[in-house]
Parts: sequence; C-alpha cells; structure tokens
Amino acid sequence: MRGPDHTCLAGVGALRGCPKRHETRVQTPGVAFTPVARTQSLYVCRACGGEALKWQGQCARCREWDSLEAVTGVTAVRGARERGTAAAASAGLGDGVGDPAAAARLSLGMAEIDRAFGGGLVAGSVTLLGGEPGIGKSTLLLQVASALAAGRVIVYASGEESVPQIGLRARRLDLSGAQLLLVSDSSLDAILALAVERQPTLLVIDSIQAMQLAANDSSPGSPLQLRDCTAALVRHAKSSGCAVIIVGHVTKDGSIAGPKLLEHLVDTVLYFESDAGSRYRMLRATKNRFGLVNELGFSAMSAGGLKEVRNPSAIFLSRQPQPVPGSVVMVARDGGRPLLIEVQALVDRSRFGTPRRVAQGVDVNRVSMLLAIMSRHADLPLADYDVFVNLVGGIAIAETSTDLPLALALASSLRGRALPASPVVFGELGLTGEVRPVAHGEERLRELMKLGYRHVILPRDNLPRSPPAGVALHPVASLGEALAAAFTES
Ligand code: TYD
Ligand code: MG
Repeated sequence: MRGPDHTCLAGVGALRGCPKRHETRVQTPGVAFTPVARTQSLYVCRACGGEALKWQGQCARCREWDSLEAVTGVTAVRGARERGTAAAASAGLGDGVGDPAAAARLSLGMAEIDRAFGGGLVAGSVTLLGGEPGIGKSTLLLQVASALAAGRVIVYASGEESVPQIGLRARRLDLSGAQLLLVSDSSLDAILALAVERQPTLLVIDSIQAMQLAANDSSPGSPLQLRDCTAALVRHAKSSGCAVIIVGHVTKDGSIAGPKLLEHLVDTVLYFESDAGSRYRMLRATKNRFGLVNELGFSAMSAGGLKEVRNPSAIFLSRQPQPVPGSVVMVARDGGRPLLIEVQALVDRSRFGTPRRVAQGVDVNRVSMLLAIMSRHADLPLADYDVFVNLVGGIAIAETSTDLPLALALASSLRGRALPASPVVFGELGLTGEVRPVAHGEERLRELMKLGYRHVILPRDNLPRSPPAGVALHPVASLGEALAAAFTES
C-alpha cells in the first residue's frame, strides 16, 4: 500500500524509500499548504514606499541608495482581501457620473487660492499641502477653514498646536465660524471617528508627520506611519465625500517628507513657496486630478494673515521713476498665466582670471549661450566681463521667452544706457542670432497693455494679424534689429 506522497527538501532523490536520512515534508494529496501570517521586520523605502523583507543598500523598486528603513512589529500578510469580493463602487457613465453640477467646487475664500486648487475645492478630494516651516501653511488652512465654515461643519485637526493656541491665532486673524471644530490630537483614529460622527465638509490635518494610527506601532513621521495615515484619510474621503487637506513638512531639498508614495495616493499636491524674506507667497499645483498643474495663486503675508494679490505682475516690477541701464521688463508665462517681470543685468570688467557668471531665476547655461550669441552676432564682446543676472521678486522662469529681454538687459548694462522707451520685451533667441516666436503671444500683449505699457519689442512672427490700438509694436527678426529698436528714441 502506498502511503502519502512526500517531497524531499534535498532534491530529486527524495522519493519514498530514499536511503538518505534527511528532512521530509509530508503532504496529504488534495490539501495545499496555506501561507501563515507572521510578524517580522519590514523595510520600507523612504523615496518610493517600496517594501523589502531584508535590508539592501539600494531599493529594488526605485533604485534609490540607502533609502530603506526598518519598520518592526508589522504583520506581513499579503492578499488579505478575500478573492471574489465585488468592487465596492461602480456606475456607468450614462448614470450621470462626473456630472459637473454634482461636482460643484467650493470657494476657499480667495480667488487666488481657488485658482491653485483648479477652481475650488472638490468634495471627496484629498490635497497634500507642502511648504517650509513658518511659511504660513497653518495660517492659510485656518483662514480657508473659517471661510468655508459659514453654514458648513469643518474639522481642523492639529497634532502640533493646542486648541487654545489655534484659537488665539484665529482671534488674531479675526476669524469666525461657529461650525469650525478645532481639535488638538495626534491620534488619527480619534480624528477619523470624530469625522465619521460630525460629517464635516472639510477635514484639515496639520500635519501628517504628527499623526499616528493605533494599528501601526511605528513612530509618527516614519515612512510606514505616513503611508498608512494618508491611505486611511484617502479611504475616508472617498467613502464619505469629505474633502481632506493634509499638511506635509518638506525635506531640505524641498520635497514633501516621507515616501514619494504620498504624492501618488492623493488627488492634488500643492506647494506653498516664497522667496527668502519676501512677504509674497505662491501656491503652486504640481499634481491635480481635477485641474491644471502648475497653476499659481499669489498671496501676501500681513499682520492680519494672508491676503490675496489681485495683480501679481506688480510684485515682480520694481518701481523706478526713470529707465535705468541694465533693467528690462519682460512678459513671461508661468503657472498658466502671463506675468510681467523685471530682469536686471550687471556686467563688470572681470578683475580675476575666470569671469563670473551668476544667474538668479534663470538657467546659468542659457545665460552663457546668450553671451556667445551676443558676441558672435551683435559684436558685443562680453567674454572679459563678470555677468550677473537677476529676476526681481525671486521668481524662477524656465521659458525661452526670457532670451531676448536678457540679451537687451545685458547690452544695456554694457553700454551704460537705459532703453529710452522702456519697452516690454519677449522672444526666443536662436544660435544664428534670429529671434523666434514664443507661444501665447497675444495673451502676453493683453497682460502688458492691462498694466499700462505702451511699447513692445516682440518676435516678428508673434505680430498679431490685427494689431491692438494704443500700443506701439516693434516686431524684430534678429538680435541686431532688436538692439536697434531698443536703443532708438521713439
Ligand atoms: P504658520 O502658519 O504657523 O506656518 P507653518 O504652519 O507653515 O509652519 O505661519 C507662521 C508665520 O507666519 C510666522 O512667522 C508669523 C507669520 N504670520 C504673520 O505674519 N501674520 C499672521 O497674521 C500670522 C497668523 C502669522
Ligand atoms: Mg504649522
């Protein structure tokens, strides 16, 4: 009679009657082994949230070096969800899914903030707001929460400040909102329980790094805790329709601290940015499932909190009563809108061996290329000069329309002559000295006219078919023509 089959772990010689005395595992026919959940340490990648069962120098998923962190006390059970369970939510497009009327956006109290959110807050959306400490994230969200709290329940949960501290700030900002619930707790379980009970329209979590889920015994701020807390908030938002805004601290390099996975989990990622020492703040969308990315919203920090800036172009223009050498106003496009920005250039004879090239707000390699074009095609030898270039207001522009204004600002500084008509300039420069057109020419023209400028130097191919009245257009096709137009008295 045959007994149950057995498999020899040592290899093929493992059939019944194997003469070797080695370990065998008896398997009854028809009965499969079931995997057993066991508690073991797990390693989670700080960059991508990938998991590994043992430590490795490099993450196998995203190839980042030295990014794995041990997370102990986690039960590694895979496939916990039972097979055969139906999808929880399904609907056909014919059922009116995605109806714009149903997805009405709520205004956050300031048009500029709404703009960065893609036109307002979407119910059931999850937004991650990143920014350096002290930039004003808590101030912004308290103002937003208070603006929405007129007639709606809003929960503002802080794991960093006590309720009296938040209350004090709200009083200082002269905020009201009877339905605004302030909570100071770092237990996300408690906050979610409150959200289930009160059904708020908006839940603010300040900050995700301070939150902790009881089921996860790693410390707050650790990659696994961040990931699980965010996932729990996303689940709550999607099931209840409550919008969630999560504050995330940033690392030294400016990205949101924690696994990159956080950005994949949420619908919208916003960064709150500012130039060092400036009171102006920019809210920029880097990911938005419900709107355009790179939308920019402008505000200014004041003693009474954040105030919106209705005319952002004014931030980037310094008010000089007379035209000065080395200064040119350009119209660039950033964050989906045209912006007037003053570019400044300073060239000075180099006193040391290698001339210096310093650029703030533009790519320094692009400046080197412009210097070569100017030397070759306009006979402006800048090789022996130190060159400094700056965009006023601390904004950075990665757009080719900055070429021509930069070249004219450099020429103006070299000649020590201001551009007499104070024109606004935009256009790309090619290596052969030609001026190339840029996108959205008419939109740029409208913006500069709105701000009262009356002279424009622009690429010939950007000339509108029916030129607008009240503005002198100087179309140019080469750097030589642009220099001639810029330095002629009009
Ligand atoms: P805060 O919102 O606490 O920043 P974050 O949450 O991003 O760390 O902002 C703190 C800074 O804002 C602080 O330096 C003081 C300044 N501030 C004002 O200038 N005016 C105000 O009305 C408030 C509330 C803050
Ligand atoms: Mg804060």
